[in-house]
Order: sequence, then structure tokens, then C-alpha cells
Amino acid sequence: MCGIVGYIGKEQAAPILLEGLRRLEYRGYDSAGVSVHTSEGLQVVKATGRLDVLGGLTDDGRRIDGTAGIGHTRWATHGEPSDTNSHPHMSHRGKIVVVHNGIIENYRELKEKLIRRGVVFSSDTDTEVVAQLIDYYYNGDLTDAVYRAIDRVEGSYALGILSADYPDRILAVRRDNPLILAKGETGNFLASDVTAILKYTRDVIYLEDGELAVLTRDQLSVYDVYRENTEKAVVRVDWEVSAAEKGGHPHFMFKEILEQPEVFQKTIAPRIKDGAIDLSEISLTGEDLTAVNKIYIIACGSAYHVGVIAKYNIEKYVRKPVECALASEFRYAEPIVDENTLVLVISQSGETADTLAAMREAKRLGAKTLAIVNVLGSTIAKEADDCIYTWAGPEIAVATTKAYSTQLAVTYLLTLHLARLGGTISRAEYDAVLGEMCALPQKMQEILAQKETLQYYASLYFNNASIFFIGRNLDYAVALEGSLKLKEISYIHSEAYAAGELKHGTISLIESGTLVVALAAHERLFDKLMSNVAEVRARGACVFCLAQASHREKVKNDADSVFALPAVHEMLMPSLEVLPLQLFAYYVALMRGCDIDKPRNLAKSVTVE
Ligand code: AGP
Repeated sequence: MCGIVGYIGKEQAAPILLEGLRRLEYRGYDSAGVSVHTSEGLQVVKATGRLDVLGGLTDDGRRIDGTAGIGHTRWATHGEPSDTNSHPHMSHRGKIVVVHNGIIENYRELKEKLIRRGVVFSSDTDTEVVAQLIDYYYNGDLTDAVYRAIDRVEGSYALGILSADYPDRILAVRRDNPLILAKGETGNFLASDVTAILKYTRDVIYLEDGELAVLTRDQLSVYDVYRENTEKAVVRVDWEVSAAEKGGHPHFMFKEILEQPEVFQKTIAPRIKDGAIDLSEISLTGEDLTAVNKIYIIACGSAYHVGVIAKYNIEKYVRKPVECALASEFRYAEPIVDENTLVLVISQSGETADTLAAMREAKRLGAKTLAIVNVLGSTIAKEADDCIYTWAGPEIAVATTKAYSTQLAVTYLLTLHLARLGGTISRAEYDAVLGEMCALPQKMQEILAQKETLQYYASLYFNNASIFFIGRNLDYAVALEGSLKLKEISYIHSEAYAAGELKHGTISLIESGTLVVALAAHERLFDKLMSNVAEVRARGACVFCLAQASHREKVKNDADSVFALPAVHEMLMPSLEVLPLQLFAYYVALMRGCDIDKPRNLAKSVTVE
């Protein structure tokens, strides 16, 4: 949940490290630091707070000379955000400096052992143990000391390592956390993800679990799990630098909201050929898919919400039982999974620890795993039996929007493909839905063009203390996401409820002025939902209702604020309905002065359990 970067080359390292950390700040932003080999030896500069604090201290790195160094931006797990607990961590003899992303699970035990052997600790972090352990084993052979240390470490890590005795190299190792290497024109890089080095090169090497890399000014060597030197494939990333910049927008989230029609199109276009869906990129055959007798969907957060929508659609059109499980629950639940189970794994980053572990558990139980992932070459994408990439491009804002929309797009393609294979959808309906899917980006554009309407509604409700979202069927699934978006960026307490559930308890929370966001886009259940609207109105609630334009007049009588949605096939409505909720959340957070791209206590990729 942190971001690490390293550079060794001909140029001054610290400005490059700061630049890289700026692009990784969405991974964690409570403190930051760099360590560089200077003419006076290994220097460490670190500070609590946003990267600007460190930037101010070092004049964006210009005050630190030296052409080899590592850097870190933190999301605290062990030890509160403070100058002492921020990374890099130096060992007590000053020989070793490390930056770390992940969690050292047995750090207490190792720390006690080292303290008994006279090692002096200065922080409360798990990470410092690694620096101290490498130093403890170090007797001139850095690589050997690193291997001996990681052999004793339990947990997950991506590590960048400097040694005072070796100013000509940086070492890097990983286990269960992403780490890429890259050769640039002026030097070599390591980073938690490609956005940090896109400015310098698009040719990257993905370090695998158990591999160790040695970066020198003119060489990049990788040692495999048998500690033998190994040739690594260089992968070209097709993301432009501009994709990882705001492009003149006030926030990444706003830019990414506006990118949704384009990336939805980009994600479906390669998979529709001659009026039919072509998923030949996956090895699962028609027979395999037809033989599946149960589908499990595992994910976290917003990706899980995409899963809830896919469950409704797949069960309706494919007629196979679908269970949608939170990955953090699935992995310890001993789920009923076997070789006839297809497990869909949804993740933007492809690195979420709970989702990765849940997928490994599903594989252990014999299931076929199909991942829907956005980040190329990420661990989940590589370890799944099959992977369908969402072409959303780099998503920088912590609150996902465009990745969510492209995940939805892939689940629609999969649903239609499975239904066609299983003969559970007529050719006519298949063609109709496919046609509407291709026309969806235009309708998404039309909704985004009404952003001022959501800005106005936000100005009415941004001071509400708590907000309820209600819906039925797919509307309920979209309400889950609407509520999460609002919570994570505006810090307003909000809950999403299946509308039929309200009268079984929660309606006791409704009082005069309580805002209820009612999602009434589901045609078949419109009347049912409107009776729930009447229930909350009768108890004084203020209602902001989203419904199809055909119902606008009727809804106007029963709601205080109305947003009309264009008609579209039921299966696809979530892609339209979520947009006004994203914009509503965005404008509410803006009016509350929240840090929209980097909400408090959150990070973009949750790589620890
Ligand atoms: C959503 O806005 C959040 N960033 C979070 O809930 C996210 O969806 C969750 O952490 C899953 O991340 P993933 O898609 O990268 O696995």
C-alpha cells in the first residue's frame, strides 16, 4: 500500500526519485523519504505528511547530490505516520538502508531476537527489522546478507536496498507485492508500478516472487528462485505519460469520470467481431464454460460491486448459480468450490492482497480462474488461468470510476458470451443487447454532459450528515457503489439498502430531512421502488431519485430532486446509472473541501491483508 522507487545512473537521483514518488503518491501519502549515495556517504531524508513536505525540505531533490538512491511514499500499517516511522529505514550500524511495500508478519519475534543480540531499533515499524536483519548478516557480501535475511522473513514485501559499502548498486526483491524494473537512457529504475517511470521508458521487466535484482549504472541482473542469473522478458507498456497526468482537469477523479465513454468503447471494441463477441483471448473453451456448474465472483470494494451486478445478469441470462463473495471472507470460508466451478476474479490493480489470496485458494480447490484486471502484468493477471484486461489505462484517483465501468463492460461481454454458448438467450436478444452495448458510450456522454445538474443537487445536500441509497435488483447493486463513492471521498456516513429491506428495521433511522437517494431505473420494479420512496417520504425524508426519462413526470411528484436516465436494455443500465452517482459524490466532496484524489486513510492498491 506504499510506493517505492529507485534510480541508479548518470543523472542526479533525488529529483528523479521525487518525480517518481509524485506519480506513486496515490498508493499512500502519510509520509515520504529518500536515501541517496552522496559524496558524504548514505544520506536519508524523510518527513511526515504529503510529498510536498519532502519536496520543500530538499528543493524537490535538487539539494541532495548523488546518482543512486531509493525513495518511498507511505500508507502506514505498523507505526503511526511520523518522521521516525517513515521510510527509508537505516540499520543501526548505518550499513543498510531499505524501502518496503508490504507487511513483515513475524517482525516482533525477529526484533526481539535482534535486540537480544544488541541491535538498537529507532522506529515502531515492521520494516526496520529487514534493514537490521540484513545488517546483522552482512559481512561484506551484500547479496548473501539479503538472501539470509529474506529467508527468515514471513509476510509480503517489495524491497529496495542500499548498502553503504556498495554505492554502485541497488538490490531489489519481492514476495506478493509488485515490483518492476526498467532500463532508461541515463540509468536503471525500480518501482512499484509503471506510472513512476513512464516518463523515462515504456520497456519494463516484471520481477517475480523470490527473484532478486541487482541494478548498477549500466546493468540490470536478475537472479531466479534458484539464485541463478536469468534472462527476463522486457514488456512494452502502451500507456502514454499523459494518461497518468491530469490533462488540465482539477482532479484525476474528474478526468477519469469523463474518460468512461472512451475506455468503455476501448474495452469492448477488440472483443466484438462481425456482430458477435469474440473472447478467443481466453483459453477457456466453449466446452469448458458449458461444463461449469457454478460461478463464484470474488473481489473487494468497488470491484466486488461489479461482481454483484454480474451475479444478477449472469443468473438471469446464463441460468447458472452465481455466488458473489468478498475476497477477505472467501479466503477463510472453506467455500464449496471444485473443478466444475468458474471463479471470476475482479481487480483494477491486480495486486489486492485479499483478492490474490482468495484466487490462490480457489485454484487450490481446483476451480478454473478467470481474472478481469486493468494493470498489465500484475500478479493476479499472471497467476489466473485466464485474464481479460480492461483497457481503462492508468487509474490514479483512489476512488475508482473508469476501471469500474470497464469491468462492467467485460462482465456484459462474458454474460452474453456464456448465454449464447449455453443457448439461454435468443439470437435476437443477443444482437439487440450487443447493439445497445455499442451505442452505450454515446448515452454515457449525454449523461456526463449534464454534470452541472449533479453539481446543483450536490449544493443542496453536501451538508447532510448521513445519506441512504435504496434500490432493487440491479439498482440495489449500483446503490452499493454510489454509497461507497460518496463515503470514500466526502467522508459522509452513507449506507445502501435493498429497498424492500428498509421496513424490516432501518426505516427507523429515517427522520425529517434525511436524504434518501432512490435508484428507480429498473423498469420491471419501478412501481415497487416508488412505493418504498413513498414509505420514506412519509417519514420526512428528502428524496433524490434517479429514473428513466419516461417516468420523469411521475417521479417529480414523489421526489425532491430527479435525474432522468436514457432508456437502455436492463442488463446495461448500471453503466448509465452509476455516472450521476459518481458526479454527485465528486461535487459533494468538492464542496466539503475534501482531498478528492487522495482521500484520508485510503490507498489505491491494498496490497496487505
Ligand atoms: C474503490 O474506489 C476503492 N479504491 C476500493 O474499494 C477498491 O475498489 C478495492 O480496494 C479493490 O481494488 P482492486 O480493484 O484494485 O482490487
